[in-house]
Amino acid sequence: MITNIWKIIGVSFALTLVMSCSKPSENESSNSKTSAKVDSVLSLMTLEEKIGQLNQYSLGSEFTGPGNKKGQDSIRYQQLISGQVGSVLNLLGAENTRKMQELVVEKSRLGIPLLFAYDVIHGYQTMFPVPLAESSSWNLDLMQKTAQAAAAEAAASGLHWTFAPMIDVTVDARWGRVMEGAGEDPYLHSEIAKARINGFQGEDLAHNKTIAATAKHFAGYGYAESGKDYNSVNVNQYILHNHILPPFKAAAEAGVASFMNSFNDINAVPATANQYLLQDILREKWNYDGVVVSDWNSIGEIVNHAVSPDLKDAAKKAIIAGSEIDMEGSAYVQFLAQLVKDGEIEESLINAAVRNVLELKFKLGLFDDPFKYSDIEREKEIVGNNQHHDLAEEIAKESIVLLKNDNDLLPLKNIKNVAVIGPLAKDKDTPLGNWRAQAIENSAVSLYEGLENVLPKSIMLKYAEGVKLSVGPNNFFQEQVINKEDRSGFQEAKQLAKNSDLVLMALGETAYMSGEGRSRADITLPGLQKELLKEIHAINPNIVLVLMNGRPLDLSWEDENIPAIVEAWHLGQRAGTAIAETLVGDNNPSGKLTMSFPRHVGQLPIYYNHKITGRPSTAPGQVFYVHHTDVENSPLYPFGYGLSYSDFEYGDIELSNNSLSKDESITASITVKNTSSRDGQEVVQLYIQDLVAEETPMVKSLKGFKKVKIKAGESVKVEFSITKEMLSYYISNGDLSLEKGAFNVFIGKDASVKSHKKIELE
Ligand code: NOJ
Repeated sequence: MITNIWKIIGVSFALTLVMSCSKPSENESSNSKTSAKVDSVLSLMTLEEKIGQLNQYSLGSEFTGPGNKKGQDSIRYQQLISGQVGSVLNLLGAENTRKMQELVVEKSRLGIPLLFAYDVIHGYQTMFPVPLAESSSWNLDLMQKTAQAAAAEAAASGLHWTFAPMIDVTVDARWGRVMEGAGEDPYLHSEIAKARINGFQGEDLAHNKTIAATAKHFAGYGYAESGKDYNSVNVNQYILHNHILPPFKAAAEAGVASFMNSFNDINAVPATANQYLLQDILREKWNYDGVVVSDWNSIGEIVNHAVSPDLKDAAKKAIIAGSEIDMEGSAYVQFLAQLVKDGEIEESLINAAVRNVLELKFKLGLFDDPFKYSDIEREKEIVGNNQHHDLAEEIAKESIVLLKNDNDLLPLKNIKNVAVIGPLAKDKDTPLGNWRAQAIENSAVSLYEGLENVLPKSIMLKYAEGVKLSVGPNNFFQEQVINKEDRSGFQEAKQLAKNSDLVLMALGETAYMSGEGRSRADITLPGLQKELLKEIHAINPNIVLVLMNGRPLDLSWEDENIPAIVEAWHLGQRAGTAIAETLVGDNNPSGKLTMSFPRHVGQLPIYYNHKITGRPSTAPGQVFYVHHTDVENSPLYPFGYGLSYSDFEYGDIELSNNSLSKDESITASITVKNTSSRDGQEVVQLYIQDLVAEETPMVKSLKGFKKVKIKAGESVKVEFSITKEMLSYYISNGDLSLEKGAFNVFIGKDASVKSHKKIELE
């Protein structure tokens, strides 16, 4: 049985040395205590051991058994037991993590515990809606709770660290990873980043239900050219500072334990070797003191970016820039020692990085008890428990966005038989989404199951698949092959539609059509689904279209022809229940889009907070202004858009004052009345437009929102405090600028809001 050897031989021994030189005062803060402990450990380490702390491998459970490790595995095994690996990703489970920790603590000279990391993105085993879906709830409290639950499950499985939240602002729905973030707006993204970080990390990282979080990918990854994953990023300083960086700044301020680089080059410098981002901004401007991890072999990819001739040079560039942990690149473990010996880099650079790694290990309590997270009993009790599934249902209901509802077709009423058609209707896997950690395959409640449970027995349900969405494998590692030929199910589906009062069509994208490496050039419904939809529509137009997808889609035809459209994303564990309850009206939809839905893929990138331009006119018939000749400028559904079964009427904006001097604030309020006979929730949004600025301003930007419950027939007064910070923006050198002058204040239900009042900053 391994005891906590660090208490016995390590820290206490080293601390004695440190403390005999400088006795700490009684009220020494816990931070400086940790810092003293870190110094004491550091003083015991050889250069190779230090570099080991910066080396991270993806290792499977085969490393914990007696098996015969050959080739590369044998090298890694030797490194593991000799203190040359500091953290491990993708090793899971209380038992496996305990075994590997024992190996390292027992066999390596100093026994410094490992960190176990994993991509816990929207749940560990219990799947919550994919992050883009969750963001549509605009419910920060619930998002914090789902991160908290995910952390509790992960921590009970021996994990210490998640590579989440992804806080890349995204404006191009072609990019597969839009499903992993919170959409196009920097302010909303920042608020959600804080909620998720607080959820993962809680108040105390040493608690056995919390884990360290990661702000990723730093930076610009969401602006990959033409939406192709890993592609180059070319953005100007305005976009960088006003759109991309704010969520990262918010994450740093919220105390996120780590940052992760991104794969892309940004303005001709690979993000992993980017001194401007990692030093000038992260460390100097924001004073960030956590640890920076590379993305998967992104140090190696510096060579592919062709700014380093070889891996040794890439290692040098990355460590100098401030990438501290090498994930799966083997660059540091191979070359850093030599670089120090050759005088090409200072050892102090390595010391600084190692300090950050050790500090995280101390904060997680690993030096007190390296095995505290690896508890088989707790794992059984917490992972996938019912409370977490209930929470998944609660947030799924709030994440659904009602896109269209002509003649109040929804909630369902006066129907006797329903045809449920589509490849996703009985699919129990798609709702789990991509980046699903340890989700159990096919474990979600399907739409059909949800309907069976929720619809009164008097309504007859019939089902036809209609068409297959894809052929062949459906998993994280393989490209999905879309079905473009097999129409054999059309006939049965059409027959069913003909004999039904209503058709519920469940269409969209499977879990693996969005996510990493899943960029699409065509963002209409994939495969033969639209063709089937059109044919069914010709027979029975009384259709409710339920969409399950991981990105905004081009739904122009659907919007023109289908009377009711429900955006149900990939909603997680209890997706079917949440959707069914929404269809029958037990849940009143309250989600709002966090990314604009385009009318056509050619509009991308499309986002509401764009520049005003020199030719902004939208008058029909004009030629020489900013537009496409074949598609109108507005999105199909704007940012912030979503319907409800209630009707909300907005009054006039009231201002406590029309002018603001630099140290005051203005209260802007509005009365929102629920004029319907149903209780509902509304996300009331505040936008501000800078009318004249030194650098060309955006047409408007979100500066506040409130999700309010409003009972049938009642009114609620919603107030926002407008502060001077809300009127500032980042100029090209990255400094905040607050400029006197006029601003428009908008309050409304989405980003297309027109009604506004003017204020003046004196
Ligand atoms: C690559 C992805 O870009 C990153 O987000 C993820 O955390 C790592 N792989 C580790 O799985």
